[in-house]
Amino acid sequence: MRALITGIVGFAGSYLAKELLDAGYDLYGTQLPGESRERLRGLLKHISISKLDLRDSSATTRLIRRVKPDMVFHLAAIAAVRYSFDNPSETVEVNTTGTVNLLEALRKQESTKSILTVTSSDIYGIVKPAQLPIKETTPLDPVSPYAISKAAADMFAHQYFKSYGLPIIRVRAFNHTGPKQARGFVVPDFCARIAAIEYNKMKSEMRVGNLEAERDISDVRDIVRGYRLLAENGKPGEAYNLCSGKAHKIKWILNRLLGMSTVSIKIKRDSNKMRPSDVPILVGSYDKAWRHVRYKPIHKFEDTIEDTLEFWRTIVRRR
Ligand code: GDD
Repeated sequence: MRALITGIVGFAGSYLAKELLDAGYDLYGTQLPGESRERLRGLLKHISISKLDLRDSSATTRLIRRVKPDMVFHLAAIAAVRYSFDNPSETVEVNTTGTVNLLEALRKQESTKSILTVTSSDIYGIVKPAQLPIKETTPLDPVSPYAISKAAADMFAHQYFKSYGLPIIRVRAFNHTGPKQARGFVVPDFCARIAAIEYNKMKSEMRVGNLEAERDISDVRDIVRGYRLLAENGKPGEAYNLCSGKAHKIKWILNRLLGMSTVSIKIKRDSNKMRPSDVPILVGSYDKAWRHVRYKPIHKFEDTIEDTLEFWRTIVRRR
């Protein structure tokens, strides 16, 4: 089986690459020109990677015609919500138009057996407490350019299933983290700052954003296993949540990481790290993924954030 991962050099892409190689797939991937392949260290000789900007529709069609994938995992995207507020049109071009270009290329190809489009729990946006945990039937109310770009991508994916019968499975991934995730997301942001303070590379004060938000954060290895299980046995046309089923307050995560630190750190609220609008709580139900493909998370959140802090200590020590 030939599998193609768009955005293979990214955080989740690199973990998915390992998951698929371990399962015996012939692996192909795309990356933007100029992106580092560091996250794939040790795996590169088993993967055929092409440079592709999904905003270029002709290049996307040529790539799909050449690779002829049996399975496609569409991960390439702008993933940082904060960034999307300052760059809304770029976010829509990459996340929405990029998805449409890929779906158009796959429509012409016809031979692909399974297409997984990864969107986000952020598309649910502001959810009433009575509707928690979020199910796939919960209405969408996106409140950031990122979330809107992903909601549109989710809808296009559904339209391509309905209009052309493309075997598309939509995955609404809730937050996930682990070693190798870039700064710009809450867990690596906190870990990188704590590690820098521990190694005296920053004064012992940490600036943080909204600590009242609650998020359902999984280990990235659980999420990519979910991607594989859904691509192999999920039902085309359906949407699936992948999540842990538990919410943690950002303040709780911060305190937990501070408790693992070797130094004492002063916390300061930074208005620049606040967003024009933020989703107060995201907690999902993975019941449908369990019923359809027996997905359930196995990693403990406390271990995941400890591993991530350790990863950042190694990075900072090396600098
Ligand atoms: N990034 C960041 N940095 N967030 C902070 C910080 C900080 O220093 N301090 C507080 N926060 C708060 C944010 O305001 C938000 O409420 C929460 O921590 C989580 O922020 P992120 O880690 O940036 O994630 P997100 O929930 O906005 O989006 C992530 O999850 C989505 C799925 O729900 C991203 O990974 C998206 O790509 C993903 O789709």
